[in-house]
Amino acid sequence: MTAVIRKALTVMAPKDLRGINRVAIVGGGPTGIACAKYLLAEKSFQTIDVFEQRRNVGGIWNLSGTEKTRRIPIPQTDPKYGAGKNSSASGRGDDDSLEFESPLYDYLETNIPKTMMAYSDTPFAESLPLYPKHDDVLRYLEDYAQPVKHFVHFQTQVIDVRPFEPRDHPEGTSRLARKWHLTTKDLRTNALEEAHYDAVIVANGHYTVPHVPAVPGIAEWHKKYPNVIMHSKAYRRPEDFSGQKVLVIGNSASGLDIAGQLAPCAQKPIFLASRSASQLAPAGGGPAWRKDIAEIEAFLVSEGDRAVRTKDGDMVDGFDAIIFATGYFYSFPFLSPVSTHSSSSSKTQSPSSSSVSLESPASAHDGPAAHLPTSDGEDLSVSNPLENLVTSGLRTHDVYEHFIHIDYPTLALPVLNLKVVPFPLAENQAAVIARLWSGRLDLPTTNDMHKWEEDEERRLLEGRRLRPAPDTATGESVASDGHDLPAATSKYEGGFHTLVYPEDAAQINSLYQWAASACPRDGLEHNGKGKLGTRWDEEQVWLRKQFPTLKAAYTNFGEKRFDVTSIAELGKEWNDGYKKWQENTSDEEKADLFRRAAVPGY
Ligand SMILES: Cc1cc2nc3c(=O)[nH]c(=O)nc-3n(C[C@H](O)[C@H](O)[C@H](O)COP(=O)(O)OP(=O)(O)OC[C@H]3O[C@@H](n4cnc5c(N)ncnc54)[C@H](O)[C@@H]3O)c2cc1C
Ligand SMILES: NC(=O)c1ccc[n+]([C@@H]2O[C@H](COP(=O)([O-])OP(=O)(O)OC[C@H]3O[C@@H](n4cnc5c(N)ncnc54)[C@H](OP(=O)(O)O)[C@@H]3O)[C@@H](O)[C@H]2O)c1
Repeated sequence: MTAVIRKALTVMAPKDLRGINRVAIVGGGPTGIACAKYLLAEKSFQTIDVFEQRRNVGGIWNLSGTEKTRRIPIPQTDPKYGAGKNSSASGRGDDDSLEFESPLYDYLETNIPKTMMAYSDTPFAESLPLYPKHDDVLRYLEDYAQPVKHFVHFQTQVIDVRPFEPRDHPEGTSRLARKWHLTTKDLRTNALEEAHYDAVIVANGHYTVPHVPAVPGIAEWHKKYPNVIMHSKAYRRPEDFSGQKVLVIGNSASGLDIAGQLAPCAQKPIFLASRSASQLAPAGGGPAWRKDIAEIEAFLVSEGDRAVRTKDGDMVDGFDAIIFATGYFYSFPFLSPVSTHSSSSSKTQSPSSSSVSLESPASAHDGPAAHLPTSDGEDLSVSNPLENLVTSGLRTHDVYEHFIHIDYPTLALPVLNLKVVPFPLAENQAAVIARLWSGRLDLPTTNDMHKWEEDEERRLLEGRRLRPAPDTATGESVASDGHDLPAATSKYEGGFHTLVYPEDAAQINSLYQWAASACPRDGLEHNGKGKLGTRWDEEQVWLRKQFPTLKAAYTNFGEKRFDVTSIAELGKEWNDGYKKWQENTSDEEKADLFRRAAVPGY
């Protein structure tokens, strides 16, 4: 990214992004609130409206029931499923909306040490465990949100966002001059409201729509053995699995953590199936209570009892529960229909004035717009201009550096990345967004931003880091080791936003530097530089690499772990860890790592 920053300073005139006064933020979770804070600190925007459909800030850190998630189809390969259809704040009714069901579970503790998880301006309380429990995090987020809470419209769902050309714009106006038309729904009254904004931040999270891959035989198996297969989003507590034989599929954070939680309750061993090595597991094999098996190749209906076959050819049977910890789809139901599943119906009506009350705005999410006359006569005739944003659901397209929409730079989609530290990433991206939209930073040209995305795609493809999207017609997983298809890059969607160490460190540090390079302005903090986010120094870059072993060391304290409030308390090995690594590592190796992690001075 460093090269990009240098280029960015020269190519796009700041005036293109001037004149942004009204900004809407979709979502008052950890990302949306961080964005509101950085926009406020920029002292440049007249209106900051945060729309949050829940009753509270904190996003998924508000725990919930799992009623609707338990009813998802098996397999679940539709990125549009359950996203915003007929949402109701109470969660009641016969709709299938998953919007209000959180993926967090009863005994969830953070998987990031509190010192590195925190926003730069708000440390976690010293008295909290090194890995706080979920309710401590919610309280932390509520405190963090206090200074911007008055911007948040609670229980207000954004149901439609689309760009339009203002009537008074001269012909040939650049896309940057486009405005945004938002329709929101007050979930207490069902009243719809429309408003125009100069820019929109989409911070709706990406842990709403579960992904259960179409492994051969799974649909028939599920029919024959109902209530065995579920997604990790519906998991709440290990006691529900007492004495059961359990298979967990997926070895990322959910798979590893849920398997670990089940260990004291479920039948041993817990089976864990994975298709690739985990970035999150400590090296040296799994614990004794776990049996690691290869990727599941097929669900067997006519062999064995509740049996599956692995890619190694092993058959395992007798499962009482199978938990798919296979991640989630990107979904922006208010922004763009998912093109592979787009409906033929068109929205031909909209409320003709502000605050119109409609009984059932269900169609708001169905299909592209044709002509949408607005309350003040604007013609929103741009038909589905963002239709390629999400296709298979495994990737978000056309986003520069993973967060600025390339063709609509007044649209930002922060924190799309996986395997990152979300709160600092949110604030560093927010710091850049605020400066871009106040005209203190520039972007590369549209062509250069598209080139960045293409180069990134090529780099990941060559590094065999992209996975093919499921077959669009059948939803079935593409059989292969995931890397050997012809180079039709558009089919390779999975993994595009997944960062591999030290790329996340480089992202944090480059964003910090990008924000810090903005033209200073009188009246802003830090001598006119403005609000700055997180920067990882050498020790933090080193520590990030240690996350799996650090968490394992903490977990080894058993119930006493809640008394461990700092890394130093984990013992001498951890107290001296960084110093020892420094002594035992050559200067070249250290310099190479810190250069790749974009630590200043390397
Ligand atoms: C099981 C699990 C455990 C995790 N553990 C950790 C951890 O230990 N540490 C960590 O740092 N991160 C963790 N994460 C990552 C987590 O996603 C982030 O901490 C954080 O919640 C991301 O914030 P967000 O605002 O981007 O998304 P969310 O938390 O999903 O918040 C999005 C908000 O947008 C609102 N919204 C969505 N659509 C609309 C709409 N149309 N209109 C109005 N409002 C809308 C939602 O109601 C929600 O409040 C975990 C994630 C999961 C799934
Ligand atoms: N605080 C905590 O302790 C905690 C607990 C749970 C989750 N989380 C957080 O929750 C978020 C989501 O994590 P997640 O683990 O649910 O999702 P995730 O990180 O997206 O991981 C999905 C997993 O599913 C696997 N997978 C996907 N498709 C598959 C297929 N077709 N067949 C087999 N395996 C497949 C992936 O394998 P590949 O790796 O091979 O692609 C990966 O292991 C992350 O931010 C995570 O940090 C935190």
